[in-house]
Amino acid sequence: MLGLGALAAPAAAQGSLNLYCSAQVEWCQAAANAFAKETGIRVSMSQKGSGEVLAQIRAEAQNPRGDIWYGGTGDPHLQAAEDNLTAEYRSPMLDQLYDWAQKQARDSQYRTVGIYAGALGFGFNTELLARRNITPPACWRDLLTPPFRNEIQMANPQSSGTAYVMIATMVQVMGEEAAFDYLKQLHRNINAYPRSGTAPVKAVARGETGVSISFVHDVVTERLGGFPAQFALPCEGTGYEIGSMSIIRGSRNERNARRFYDWALTPAAQQIGAEAKSFQTPSNRSTPVPAEAPQMSQIRLIDYDFAKYGTSAERRRLIERWDREVNSLPR
Ligand code: F6P
Repeated sequence: MLGLGALAAPAAAQGSLNLYCSAQVEWCQAAANAFAKETGIRVSMSQKGSGEVLAQIRAEAQNPRGDIWYGGTGDPHLQAAEDNLTAEYRSPMLDQLYDWAQKQARDSQYRTVGIYAGALGFGFNTELLARRNITPPACWRDLLTPPFRNEIQMANPQSSGTAYVMIATMVQVMGEEAAFDYLKQLHRNINAYPRSGTAPVKAVARGETGVSISFVHDVVTERLGGFPAQFALPCEGTGYEIGSMSIIRGSRNERNARRFYDWALTPAAQQIGAEAKSFQTPSNRSTPVPAEAPQMSQIRLIDYDFAKYGTSAERRRLIERWDREVNSLPR
C-alpha cells in the first residue's frame, strides 16, 4: 500500500486538466494522452463542436468546469474573448507562429491563438455521383442546380463552427442579401443539417449523401480511411478557418492550462494532428506541413475578415438570421 501511494504521489501532485476539444476526436484523444504522459497531469477530455463549447463555457461562466478549449474554428473563440469568457495569456511560443496565428492573438487581446488553418470546400462521394450521373460540384453556384436536389449536407451553424464559416464566407463573397438568397435556394437541396461540422463528410464517405460542405482536410481523412471521397474548391473563391485555442477564464487549473497551451504550440505536439489523420496546416513555422494536407497557398482564399465575423454581435446576428429565414423554410 505504502509503496503504491508513493508511486502515485508525483502524478497526483501535478494535478489535473479539463480539456474541451473541438478538433476531430481522434486528435483530441491523442493530444490528451501525449500531454498526460509527458507531464503526469491527469487530463479529462470532452469533444464537442465549436458552437457547443462556446455555449457550454457561457453557461458555466459563474462556475467554470473547463480549463482549456483546444481546437475549433476561430470565430467562436474570438466571440468568447470579446464576451470575457476566456483569459489573457501571452505564450512565450507566440513568435514561433505564422503571422495568421499571431494575428488571431492580437485581434483578441491575447485571449486566443491560432493553432491550425484549413480551407472550406465540397466533399463528394465519387461512386455515388457517378452512379447517379451527376458531375461533381466545382462552384458554389453548382450546388443550387437540380441534380443536387436533396443531395447535400451541411452542419447546423448553431452548433458547428464549420457551418458558420460557410455562412460568413457567402456573405463575404456575395454580399449579405445575395448570400441569404443563396442560402434559401440551397436549403431546397439540403437533406440534413447535423450538429457536428464533420458529420456531413462522414455521411458522404458512407454513401448517405452525395455532397457535403466541409473543410477539405476532413475530406482527406475520409479518403485515407478508404472511402470514395474527394474534395473540390469552389471556383468563386472560398473561406477558411484559423483553428484556435483559449484558456477559460476562472479556470481552476490555470497553471496546467498554460502548460498545455505552450505545449500545444510546439512542433512535436502539433505533429500529433497528422499522426491522428487530421490534415490542417499547423501554426508553428517549424511544424512540417503534412504531405496529405491541402496546400493553402494553392487555394483561392478570400480575405476572410476574422475580426468582423468573429465579433459577438455579428456572429449571433447571422446565425439568428439563418435560423429565422432559412432553417424555418419547408424543403
Ligand atoms: O477537423 C475537424 C474540424 O473540421 C476542425 O478543422 C474544425 O476546427 C472543427 O472540426 C470544427 O468543428 P465544428 O464545425 O463541429 O465546430
